Amino acid sequence: MKAIVYQRYGPPDVLQLKEVAKPTPRDNEVLIRTHATTVTAGDCRVRSLRMPVGFGLISRLFLGVSKPRQPILGSELAGKVESVGKDVNKFKVGDEVFAFTGARLGCHVEYKCLPEHGAVAMKPTNLTFDEAAAMSSGGTTALAFLRRAKIQSGEKVAVIGASGGVGTAAVQLAKHFGADVTAVCSTANVELVRSLGANHVIDYTKEDFKKGGETYDIIVDTAGTAPFSRSKALLRERGRLLLVLSGLPDILGVPWVSMTSSKIVIAGPAAWRAEDLHFLAKLAEAGEFKPVIDRRYPFEQIVEAHRYVDAGHKKGNVIITLA
Ligand SMILES: NC(=O)c1ccc[n+]([C@@H]2O[C@H](COP(=O)([O-])OP(=O)(O)OC[C@H]3O[C@@H](n4cnc5c(N)ncnc54)[C@H](OP(=O)(O)O)[C@@H]3O)[C@@H](O)[C@H]2O)c1
Repeated sequence: MKAIVYQRYGPPDVLQLKEVAKPTPRDNEVLIRTHATTVTAGDCRVRSLRMPVGFGLISRLFLGVSKPRQPILGSELAGKVESVGKDVNKFKVGDEVFAFTGARLGCHVEYKCLPEHGAVAMKPTNLTFDEAAAMSSGGTTALAFLRRAKIQSGEKVAVIGASGGVGTAAVQLAKHFGADVTAVCSTANVELVRSLGANHVIDYTKEDFKKGGETYDIIVDTAGTAPFSRSKALLRERGRLLLVLSGLPDILGVPWVSMTSSKIVIAGPAAWRAEDLHFLAKLAEAGEFKPVIDRRYPFEQIVEAHRYVDAGHKKGNVIITLA
């Protein structure tokens, strides 16, 4: 089968289309034929080892010191079940599914084996394969952070980087939880975030979000522009700052913030769960959550997709389609 493989860290050109062995499902696994997958900001970070401040060495130890331990990127996909192991009873051949592998990656492949009780769920019937492929990365990240923040209906939530993969999911999920949402984005994305349900939009190229005089119960920062030192004055009493993108110093400072103020900083990797996929699928079926698609690239042009995502201004998700 075809796979996109990389053997060394570096620019998008390190990615190569290769033939690798097609996997065979174990007794408890399903074999999925991929119809669509995505290139996320995380894929680009792992490929290039361009990590937030303080994570360079830790990332190398985790991902492979001199070369990548996992040579295939991609954390999410959608496709059809092609075959099942003998103990599988949750899925059958022909089922349309979507799946998330998180930090294990390995989704930029024609065929993928996954345990039936892992992060695999039936594709919502009202979504295309492209949309379903983009459900998990941004969706589970936004959901995990909002859950840790114990978001309440009626709270005032600001989402910085509202037009990105995590931001577009955060805006929709915060609306689902009944929040009043302020989206912060650039001029080109104002209409997009409004269409996702944002109650207020701040164009960061024209207005400084921090100088508007408004305060928030929750600030979600996906762009790394609102560390606690800069945003504490914008947080209400018991306000929560969700640092989706943060450096090691921000994370090390978390206990100090809790000890010295009524405010809370939540940072680090998203604590997602397999059942989050079912939650997102139900919301999608109810029309309350729809992954935003920016561009589509064929599998063979994944290098171009990485170049685009590397620039840091994608709108929602970038899809890779397989014939
Ligand atoms: N903690 C975790 O577990 C976790 C999980 C997933 C992702 N992440 C990280 O979270 C970050 C965001 O991921 P993503 O998938 O949403 O990335 P993305 O799709 O590339 O989106 C980044 C967004 O940042 C916005 N942006 C750039 N500069 C900005 C500025 N100065 N002020 C406000 N917004 C700005 C861009 O919007 P404009 O085009 O409008 O500028 C864009 O929408 C990445 O660094 C990723 O590695 C962390």
